[in-house]
Amino acid sequence: MIITYLGHSCFTIEVNNSVLLFDPFITPNELASSIDIKKLMPDYILISHGHQDHIADAVSIAKQSGATIISNWEIVNWLNNQGVEKSHPMNIGGHWFFDFGKVKCVNAVHSSSLPDGSYGGNPMGFLLETKEGNIYYAGDTALTLDMKLIGDYKKIDVAFLPIGSNFTMGIDNAVIASDFIHCDKIIGMHYDTFGYIKIDQDEAFGKFAAAGKELVLMQIGSSITI
Ligand code: NI
Ligand code: MN
Repeated sequence: MIITYLGHSCFTIEVNNSVLLFDPFITPNELASSIDIKKLMPDYILISHGHQDHIADAVSIAKQSGATIISNWEIVNWLNNQGVEKSHPMNIGGHWFFDFGKVKCVNAVHSSSLPDGSYGGNPMGFLLETKEGNIYYAGDTALTLDMKLIGDYKKIDVAFLPIGSNFTMGIDNAVIASDFIHCDKIIGMHYDTFGYIKIDQDEAFGKFAAAGKELVLMQIGSSITI
């Protein structure tokens, strides 16, 4: 699979001949000004919760690409009302087999209102099982014992965890989370975008390394192959 970082918690993952886009927040993000969203043509857009910093560019990218939105029922309905045609509503605990693999929605401890104040349902994370590996995308979440269930349920090859603190778990709790999910390869997200979530990257690398984990902090616009 090829993972490309588009800033904040936004990534594309190319897997099994599909392009998945997670939590699009690009045009309002000054750090991601090098990214041209008009070139993004995902097959699927996965949205963890309704906050602006996860959904800002969802409508425009869905319309230009014809991508299918995968999110909770409330967010899917809200996007449908804005003209997004293709969508698949889900909720926590459920799974579905898409052409790229299996998606299971898992718990996230956070909140979820939409940019206009509409109810955004419950925040979620995603567990993806694919022929090219299993992925846990945590969304915005605190450390929670529920992560142990995810790690015991499936072997996770790579996990996307928030590390910026203030709105989500920070570095120390993300190290514990990576233990809970039995995963040694962590891609950090939800850090440095705003003042509240600025981190000391050296501290983050050191703490993950001390726990025997690899922390990857990607440059915006860069890709890695796993
Ligand atoms: Ni949030
Ligand atoms: Mn957020």
